[in-house]
Order: sequence, then C-alpha cells, then structure tokens
Amino acid sequence: AAGLKYFGAATDTPGQRERAGLEAAYPQYDAILADNDMFGSTTPTNGQKWLFVEPEQGVFNFTEGDITADLAAEQGKILRCHALVWHSQLAPWVEATEWTPETLTEAITLHVQTVAEHYKGQCYAWDVVNEALNEDGTWRESVFYEVLGEDYIKLAFRVASEADPEAKLYYNDYNLERPGAKVNGALRIVEMLQEDGIRIDGVGMQAHFTAGGAPSLDEQIEVIESYAALGVEVALTELDVRLETLPPTEETLALQKEDYKNAVAACAQVDACVGVTVWDFYDPFSWVPYTFEGEGAALLWFEDFTVHPAYNGVIAAL
Ligand code: XIL
Repeated sequence: AAGLKYFGAATDTPGQRERAGLEAAYPQYDAILADNDMFGSTTPTNGQKWLFVEPEQGVFNFTEGDITADLAAEQGKILRCHALVWHSQLAPWVEATEWTPETLTEAITLHVQTVAEHYKGQCYAWDVVNEALNEDGTWRESVFYEVLGEDYIKLAFRVASEADPEAKLYYNDYNLERPGAKVNGALRIVEMLQEDGIRIDGVGMQAHFTAGGAPSLDEQIEVIESYAALGVEVALTELDVRLETLPPTEETLALQKEDYKNAVAACAQVDACVGVTVWDFYDPFSWVPYTFEGEGAALLWFEDFTVHPAYNGVIAAL
C-alpha cells in the first residue's frame, strides 16, 4: 500500500443485521474483518448517526456506535467516525421541532460536542458534515440549511475542532470523484472554512459507483489533486461498485473489477489520499439492494464467502 495509510471496511452491528432480517452471528465474516492485513481500519456504517446517538433531544445513546469503536480498539484498527451532521438518518425530533437560529445552533452544538467528546481520542477522522451539496454544487435543502444557511457547516466544524482537536475533520459526499460542479462545491466548502479560520482537514469521496460507470483513473487523480491543492487530505470513504443488473455475469464482474482497481489505484498514487474504506465487504450486508432496486453484488465477497474478481483488482492496486 505505497501511498495508503489504511485500507478498511465499514461494518454494522449484530443488532442492525437482525433488524435487516439477517442472522446476527457470522463467524466467517468476523474472521475476515479481524484480519488487519486486509482491513486495517473500520467505520460504523450506522451506529454513530444522529438517529442512534441522540434519538431524543439531549438523550444520548452510544451503544451501537461503541460496538464498532470497541472492536477497532480491541483489534488495533484505525477508526473512521461517521457522521456528525447529515440531513438523512436524523432523529425525527430534529425535523419536527420549530427552530429559531439560536435554538438550532444550541442543538447542533450540543450534539456535535457530546458525540465528538464521547469518541475523543478514538477517531482518526470524523465526517463532520455529510452530503451538504446538490449535484449542481448548490446547497442541499435540509432543516439545517433552512434555518441557518451555510453557517451550520461552519458551526459543526468549529464545535468539532474544539471537542476533538486530534481527529481529522472531513467534509464527506458522493459524486465527488469526477471533475464538475459538485466537486467545485466541495472545494468551495473547504475554502469557505479556511477563510473563516475554521479547521477542515480532509475531503471524503464516498465513491459509490456503478460497474462500468466509475470515473477514469485520470479523472479521479485530477480530482484528488484539486482537493490536495487546498492543503487538505483526501480519502475514499464508502467505496462500492454495484452491478446494475443481477445476477452477476463474467462481463459485469470484469467491469466492477476495473472500477475497484482504478479507485484504489487513484488513491494509492496521490500522496494526499490517505486511505480507502469499502462500505462493508460482504454482499448480504450492502446497503445497495435496499436503496437501488434490482441492483447489488457491490462488494468484494459474495454471499457464499467466495471473493469477487474485484478482490484481485483491489489487491493489485494496493
Ligand atoms: C447507509 C447504510 O449503509 C445503510 O445501512 C443505511 O440504511 C442507510 O445509510 N452515504 C452515507 C452512508 O454517507 O452513511 C450511507 O449508509 C450510504 C450513503
């Protein structure tokens, strides 16, 4: 892994698997995840999101998030933390409350402070703000944006930097892997914070791709370099490459392998890109079939625990 500090996998908790109608225990899965030569870092797929950590205003619950944080500590893995302020998987009370700018500022401050302090010293990085941009680079509508405008982004980063001075603070989003309007939006966020003297350390490219549809190696390198030019680091934070048609064929799996290889290679080839996280590694645990109807097989291990051709693409690129 010439240029990479880590290669890792997001993971969910047994409780979340059960809620998805799956078995709770998967010893083969646990053994693969435990291999630090394969996965030197991890991220809770869901457990640190607002819905789980502050389900009622001022009532915090770190049970789900701690499962993955503790696993990282026990196994000596780097932990990426995800995500402090996001319009999705929000606790319902956040959208149900009639806010003023003052009361929402207080609520965001308490949330970010309490969560970042709880995990203080454990997170290599925090996704402080997730998905604040539309595809055309304009600000996405959300309860946060509606009440506070772009100031909510400044607030979240300011509070996070005080609460956990060691964690790298990231702006994270999807479709940030190919030059264009949304990438320009992310660059604007970095500059906006820097101009106000607020710390931002990284841009997270989620990297949710479709097989055959990922940006080229050169496009990805160009984008990574454009973030790096502003003095921030970069990571691929949620890499997966879904097949748009199932079942998988030799052809679609070959396209997928190429896309995985290019994504990992782009990060490995640019110094500023520190690491790659796949958004879980075992197909039955992927978010893809729940979100993109009829699509799937997006990860590196099939249901029967054999590997995709893409596994070898990743190994070749590391
Ligand atoms: C997904 C999880 O994987 C699912 O289990 C959950 O139901 C929905 O969220 N962008 C993100 C991630 O930043 O947090 C999302 O994770 C996938 C898209």
